[in-house]
Amino acid sequence: MEAVILAAGKGTRMYSDKPKVLHSIGGRPMLAHVVMVARALRAQKIHAVIGFGAEQIRDYFAGEDSTDLNWVLQEEQLGTGHAVQQAVTAIDTIDPDNQVLVLYGDVPLIRSTTLQQLLDQTDKDSLTLLTVQAKDPAGLGRIIRDASGQVTAIVEERDASVEQKQINEVNSGIMCVPASRLAHWLGEIDNDNDQSEYYLTDIIALAAKQKIQVNAIKLSDEIEAQGVNDKSQLALLERHYQMSNQQTLLDQGVTLRDPARVEVRGDLSCGKDCIIDVNVIFEGTVLLGNNVLVGANTIIKDAKLEDGVQILPGSSIDGAVIGASASVGPYARIRPGTVLGANVKIGNFVETKNARFGNGSKANHLAYIGDAEIGENCNIGAGTIFCNYDGANKHKTILGDNVFIGSNSVLVAPVKLADNAFVAAGSAINCDVPPEHLAVGRGRQRNIAGWKRPTKKD
Ligand code: UD1
Ligand code: CA
Repeated sequence: MEAVILAAGKGTRMYSDKPKVLHSIGGRPMLAHVVMVARALRAQKIHAVIGFGAEQIRDYFAGEDSTDLNWVLQEEQLGTGHAVQQAVTAIDTIDPDNQVLVLYGDVPLIRSTTLQQLLDQTDKDSLTLLTVQAKDPAGLGRIIRDASGQVTAIVEERDASVEQKQINEVNSGIMCVPASRLAHWLGEIDNDNDQSEYYLTDIIALAAKQKIQVNAIKLSDEIEAQGVNDKSQLALLERHYQMSNQQTLLDQGVTLRDPARVEVRGDLSCGKDCIIDVNVIFEGTVLLGNNVLVGANTIIKDAKLEDGVQILPGSSIDGAVIGASASVGPYARIRPGTVLGANVKIGNFVETKNARFGNGSKANHLAYIGDAEIGENCNIGAGTIFCNYDGANKHKTILGDNVFIGSNSVLVAPVKLADNAFVAAGSAINCDVPPEHLAVGRGRQRNIAGWKRPTKKD
C-alpha cells in the first residue's frame, strides 16, 4: 500500500501564515499525526501533496527520519483529483495488488484500525470509501446509492439536486483504491462542475459504471473523520484528542485528580501508581517511573522521572533526568541539561541549568545553579548563585562530595571545591578550595561605635 496525503491547501479560515497542516493537535502538527497513521499501516511510501507553505512543511519534517516521505508539489490547487494525480507518477501502478490510501493532512484523528478495515475490504476489483452519517451534512459530498444500496456516485453539495442534498451519508474523503485503476480513472475525470475543479470523488461514478465494487465503511464516530478548516474545529479536535489520552492514562491505572485538567502534548508513558494532580501539561517525550507524584500547576517537557520522584506544585521541568525519590519544588525551574541523582532535593525558587547533582545533594531555597557538577550529599545554601557567565563565555563550577555552601554565596566559575569543602555564608568564591578547608570570601565585619544615622534635610 502507498498513502497519498492531501495537504496543499492554504487553510484560508485559519487566518495564519502557517500552512494549515502544520497547526498542531496534542503538540504535533496535524500532518505528523496522519504520517504516523500511514506508518502504523506500513505504507511502502507516503506521498504528501503540498503547495501552500511547502517550504515550511518540508523544514518541519527535515529533522526526522523521513526516507519514506515523498513530497509532491502541487503548484496550483485544481482539486482533490488533480492533487492525487500529481502523486500518481511516483506510485507503483504496475503491481495489480498495490493499493492507494488517500488521506488528508487536515483530518488528524483518523485511526489506523479504521483504515485497516478499508485496506482489508479493497482488492484489485474493488475500492472502499469511508463515509460518515452526519448530523449536519452541509458543505460535504453526498453518497449516492442505487435501489439495491450500492454506491454509484459522490455528488458535491454545490452540484447536488435538492433531493440529493437531503442525504445525510457524506464522503469523509478518505478512500482506498487499487493503484492501477486509480491512474486510469484519474486520466478520465474533467473539471466540468460548479467549482471547475478536478474532483477525486468523480472516480466513484467511473468505477460504478465499470461494475467495480464500491464498498463503503460508515463511521459511527464523526470526530474521527472531522476535518479542520478553522480554529474552532482545531480546538474541538484538540479536546477530543486530549480526552482520549486522558482515558488511556486512566485505563493504564494512572490516578488523574481531574482527567480534564491534564494535557499531553507529545508522548507520555507512566509506570505504576503514578498520581497526577490538576493543571499539569506534559510536552515532548516524558517518561514517569513507578510511584511518581506530579503536583498541581506543573509543566514537564522532555524529561525522565525515575521511581518515587515527587514534583511539588508550580514547577517547570524541561530537558532533565530526575533520579529516584528526588523531590523538586514547589516553584522550582529545572532547565535543560539538569541531571539529578537519587534523593536529591531541589526546593522553592531554585533554578538549575546544565547541572548534575550527585545522590542526596540539596539546594532547598532560592538559588541559581548553572553549568555545574555537584558530587554527593552537598548542601547548597539559600541565595547561592553559580556565576557561570562572565559576559562572554560560560564556565563550569565543580563540587566534590559533601561540600557545604553557606547562604548567599557566589561561586565565580571556573572554580573547583574539593570534597568536604565548607564555604562561609556570604562568600564570593573565585579560587579553588582544597579538601576539608573552610573558605571565607568576604570583607571582615567591623562594628563602629558612636555612629550617627543620617537625618532628613529640611
Ligand atoms: C472534499 C470532498 C468531499 C468531502 C470533503 C470532506 C472532493 C471533490 N470533495 O470536499 O466529498 O465530503 O472533502 O471534507 O474531493 N486539497 C489539495 N489540493 C487541491 C484541493 C484540495 O491538496 O487541489 C486538499 C485540501 O488542502 C484539503 C483537502 O484536500 O485538505 C480537501 O479539499 P477541499 O477543497 O477542502 O475539499 P472539500 O470541498 O472539503
Ligand atoms: Ca474541506
